[in-house]
Amino acid sequence: MAKKTIADVDVKGKRVLMRVDFNVPQDDKGNITDDNRIVKALPSIQHVINNGGKLILMSHLGRPEGKDRAADARYTIKPAADRLSQLLGKPVKFASEAVGPVAEKAVAELKDGDVLMLENVRFYEAEQIKDKKAKDDPSLKAKKEEFAKQLAAFGDIYVNDAFGTCHRDNASMLTVPQQMAGKPKVVGFLVEKELQYLGEALNNPKRPFVAILGGKKVSDKIGVIEALLGKCDTVLIGGAMQYTFMLAQGKKVGGSLVEPDKVDEAKRLLQLGGSKLKLPVDVTTAAKLEAGVATQVAEGDIPDGMQGFDIGPKTVAEYKKIIAGAKTVAWNGPMGVFEVPPFDKGTNEIAQALVEATRNGAITVIGGGDSASAIEKAGLSDKVSHVSTGGGASLEFMEGKPFKAVEVLDDK
Ligand code: 3PG
Repeated sequence: MAKKTIADVDVKGKRVLMRVDFNVPQDDKGNITDDNRIVKALPSIQHVINNGGKLILMSHLGRPEGKDRAADARYTIKPAADRLSQLLGKPVKFASEAVGPVAEKAVAELKDGDVLMLENVRFYEAEQIKDKKAKDDPSLKAKKEEFAKQLAAFGDIYVNDAFGTCHRDNASMLTVPQQMAGKPKVVGFLVEKELQYLGEALNNPKRPFVAILGGKKVSDKIGVIEALLGKCDTVLIGGAMQYTFMLAQGKKVGGSLVEPDKVDEAKRLLQLGGSKLKLPVDVTTAAKLEAGVATQVAEGDIPDGMQGFDIGPKTVAEYKKIIAGAKTVAWNGPMGVFEVPPFDKGTNEIAQALVEATRNGAITVIGGGDSASAIEKAGLSDKVSHVSTGGGASLEFMEGKPFKAVEVLDDK
């Protein structure tokens, strides 16, 4: 059922507690190298400011475990708060604690239209206690709930606009709204858009529906391949996981990256998929992974001493033809090592094919993570229907796994 959105509640004079996903990449010096997730949260943030709400933002950054503050320091969310301030053109207050007296004082001082960012919620061990573990351990359950209660007390309204974290049962994602009974709990505009595009594409696709799956490991993609075989007309495989599939077909793969313990699983998927599941017919190989290195195309076996780093030209042509005939395309995972040219060719060609399909009226959806970075790098992200901000989240969504962090929110 559709969820209420932030547009369905009156935020004027209210404290709006919004979970965002500002888990953005940074360089060694802590500079943000891609602020896309912050930019994509702006519509919800501006909506609260413009309508006179008091906005309290919470997010995680990285994977600190909340056990050692000194070691965690590099994960401070302050750079994201500063970037948000630049993007908004107004000050964003920062509380150096997410709960406790420092945070309480900062929340109490908020005026209508102000924005406050709380420190990284993963600086607190309770944030990441899994519900599965808490179920069997009352002290863990109490710890998680106590932390969530402190955050929940800051809000009159709860908003989830953190699509990238919707597959997690972190305290700020799930326990906090559970603790806010009787108060409005809604999705933000980003989560609304993500659910709409991904949901439409997967559950109500215009056909033919083609999925393209790449990435390194078959093990990461077993669930999603299986789920998509049940929904799509064709599933195209690329990325390093193709070499494990080649092993399953009895082919030689030279020194390519493989998961030998997943060969049986790959065989099972090949059988399950039949003619729906398409593997590359050729591979671009090289002796080593280096920019500008000499390449060879292998059809069939990959010779000893060579490694596959990208799909080959015949595969590109075949996949492009299939994509051109599609009405819905979902893509997750690059076709090769796109960070190292010339092995970006397959990924870039597929990105271009999606742009052309979009131009011809197809709905094209790109799961987050590496395929989102690849299309961003190619400068094409605004030429497809939707690029998700969720890596693991979009994958789990495509697998058909439920998001408890969304289910807990108010229905329309
Ligand atoms: C992501 O980048 O996929 C999200 O921010 C979730 O982060 P996590 O995998 O560390 O929970």
